[in-house]
Amino acid sequence: KSSLSTTWLGRTVKVMKTVDSTNLEAKRLAEAGALHGTLVTAEEQTSGKGRRGRSWISVPGQGVWMSFVLRPDIELENSSMLTLVAALAVEKGIKDAAGIDGRIKWPNDVLVNGKKVCGILTELSAQMDELNYIVVGIGINANIGQFPEEVRDKATSLLAETGETVDRTRLLCQVLKHFEQDYELFKKTEDFSELMEEYNGFLAHFGQEIKVVRGKDEYICRSEGINRRGELRVVDSLGRTQEIFSGEVSIRGI
Ligand code: BTN
Repeated sequence: KSSLSTTWLGRTVKVMKTVDSTNLEAKRLAEAGALHGTLVTAEEQTSGKGRRGRSWISVPGQGVWMSFVLRPDIELENSSMLTLVAALAVEKGIKDAAGIDGRIKWPNDVLVNGKKVCGILTELSAQMDELNYIVVGIGINANIGQFPEEVRDKATSLLAETGETVDRTRLLCQVLKHFEQDYELFKKTEDFSELMEEYNGFLAHFGQEIKVVRGKDEYICRSEGINRRGELRVVDSLGRTQEIFSGEVSIRGI
């Protein structure tokens, strides 16, 4: 379906030709009082933002570059799980709109054939431990034909993987539909108890050896999937289980 089937997500939408970053625009709208579910999309971002201060390549007209404002009535400490909800929604949206199976690299990258097709950047505003709003930014490499040399072994697009152009409106609508549905499930318990199994089923590294990088530390362990809080359970070489809630994970061989 190429029409929006959500109740509240994306019902107010700002469609832009060019913007610096849809996340920045969504934050500006949120500061000006934008409602829960307000969506910003752009054909082009002149300074798309990635995580850890990196930039995000946003080829004009060839991707889904979007951000939405959420004003959830949840505990601040549970808000980081919304990033995982977004990854799950993208995974399912890609399946619906492009017919291929992606894999999630915890916490929130979506890979196809081991390369990244989607990145998610969640930013929040809070005052005195009270959540004010969250901006969820999603970038999906839909129809990018070719990537710069430097990222070619790490990044891909749906077009490059399927050989077919994907309908970006359809993709956007499907992702929003899944996000809204999964968000409602998440809200019931404010955790991943209803989504964990599905999320783990899509994990790129379930049961595999991964390298976890945290600050200066690096260690190899086995990934056992996420728990109800969205943390990654890993087993180290001594058989000890740890639950990690942040840090970079790199999958061996990927
Ligand atoms: C990452 O993997 O580093 C996250 C990338 C997030 C990119 C998207 S594109 C739409 C939204 N606007 C931005 O400036 N960034 C996010």
